[in-house]
Amino acid sequence: MGAEIAKLCEDAGADLISCTTGFSVTKDQCFEAEFSPEGGRIFFGAEVKKLCKKAKVAVVGKIRDPQMAEAALANGDADLIIGSRTHLADPYWTLKTQMGREDEIRKCMSCLECFKLFRPGAHNMRCAINPFVGYELTATEHNVPISGHPKKLLIVGGGVGGMQAAIIAKKRGHEVKLVEKTDKLGGHMRLAGTPPYKDSLIRAMNWFIDEVERLNIDVEYNIDADLDYIRSCGPDVAILAFGAEPARPPIKGIERCIDAWDILSEPKKAPAGKEIVVLGGGTVGCETAEFLAFRGNRISVIELTGELCRDQEQQHKEHVLMELSKRGAALLTSCAAQEIGEGFVSFIDGAGKMHTIKCDAVVCATGQRPLHPDWVNELRAGGIDAYTLGDATMTGDIRRATRSAFDIVMAL
Ligand SMILES: Cc1cc2nc3c(=O)[nH]c(=O)nc-3n(C[C@H](O)[C@H](O)[C@H](O)COP(=O)(O)OP(=O)(O)OC[C@H]3O[C@@H](n4cnc5c(N)ncnc54)[C@H](O)[C@@H]3O)c2cc1C
Ligand SMILES: Cc1cc2nc3c(=O)[nH]c(=O)nc-3n(C[C@H](O)[C@H](O)[C@H](O)COP(=O)(O)O)c2cc1C
Ligand code: SF4
Repeated sequence: MGAEIAKLCEDAGADLISCTTGFSVTKDQCFEAEFSPEGGRIFFGAEVKKLCKKAKVAVVGKIRDPQMAEAALANGDADLIIGSRTHLADPYWTLKTQMGREDEIRKCMSCLECFKLFRPGAHNMRCAINPFVGYELTATEHNVPISGHPKKLLIVGGGVGGMQAAIIAKKRGHEVKLVEKTDKLGGHMRLAGTPPYKDSLIRAMNWFIDEVERLNIDVEYNIDADLDYIRSCGPDVAILAFGAEPARPPIKGIERCIDAWDILSEPKKAPAGKEIVVLGGGTVGCETAEFLAFRGNRISVIELTGELCRDQEQQHKEHVLMELSKRGAALLTSCAAQEIGEGFVSFIDGAGKMHTIKCDAVVCATGQRPLHPDWVNELRAGGIDAYTLGDATMTGDIRRATRSAFDIVMAL
């Protein structure tokens, strides 16, 4: 039908047919999510081109990879490729492709953070991995103003926030040292990219890691920095980007749990074919539950409030809950865990009735709290200009981490 309509447009004099589908309420048919296939709408162009021989035909929709774009043109599926979020995440996508620097492209994760623009009260366009979006008059990735006061910066923590701070600081001409507790960069973004359908987060994380390397930023691994270490480095500015730690509620037997973060840190060692209870049904709890369900475990999620995955973007929330339901997970909202014992969890439901579930393991995903909240003031009291960013300020998300890094470093 769409191709026939396109033909009518061509007959009426259209020079260009732009093939898109859906509108805001059709969600991933109009703007694809993390779980949607890449380039899944290119075939519309091929269909239209069978009927339209004069007009040029354009296609759009999660086309992130220049090779995919080139193939669509070469196959004759389209005459023109359109990118929307593709260019929000990296406005230099086309230029980098033209220059043969495709591996430097920061590929959109399809996380849909940018659609928060349409929420009541929102002002600026935003992008989780490109903090320059909406601030292009101040700076862009390749036009970062040099600081008038170059400083010696120590950045503690190599998650996405710390890496973003290091990247902008280096471009501003500061002397940058980034220290990381583990033997790799990435922080919680590595865990966030582990559940099913989240590999675009790993790809984006790798862009930050590669960019740190491209800029030749001084990184030291396996440094568990404390206040003495930070002082001993003698920085003009300390940027504390060490993230957050899991927070456990005072439930009897809670020490028997495994933290969701530990499960996702070592995915190959995660249980398979077991009976598992997940405590906490936020994004971390639900996505860890989904990951475990995909490994053939039988899952129950116990959530205190009436809503699961409440902090996740709507399309992704619906998708995770659909995947869990499809795999027979018991999704228990308005339920409060009472005790974790040998092979069981007891809980009270919303009506006050007590229940017991038998299980092989209990996974705790009941939230996290910022690490070392007092360090920033202690450093300032000692005369070091210090700032905290990302999850170290409050439990947040990737956009909050990159955005706070931008705000801090652009002011130095
Ligand atoms: C399962 C899961 C799913 C998620 N899903 C999403 C999502 O879909 N979208 C989204 O936007 N966000 C998501 N998040 C949240 C997002 O990953 C975090 O908000 C973000 O990664 C925080 O970045 P950060 O740099 O502030 O901290 P972190 O990523 O936690 O990085 C902190 C780094 O500091 C290091 N460190 C700690 N202490 C020290 C020390 N003393 N010295 C040196 N280094 C230290 C750590 O090893 C770590 O590498 C998810 C998180 C999880 C766990
Ligand atoms: C902020 C934003 C606003 C959009 N508004 C519209 C719109 O009004 N009408 C429409 O048909 N598509 C709209 N789109 C969808 C895009 O045109 C495009 O089809 C979709 O985002 C997929 O391409 P991408 O993966 O490159 O973003 C919008 C996309 C974004 C990111
Ligand atoms: S906010 Fe997410 S979906 Fe939107 S452009 Fe950035 S990476 Fe892509």
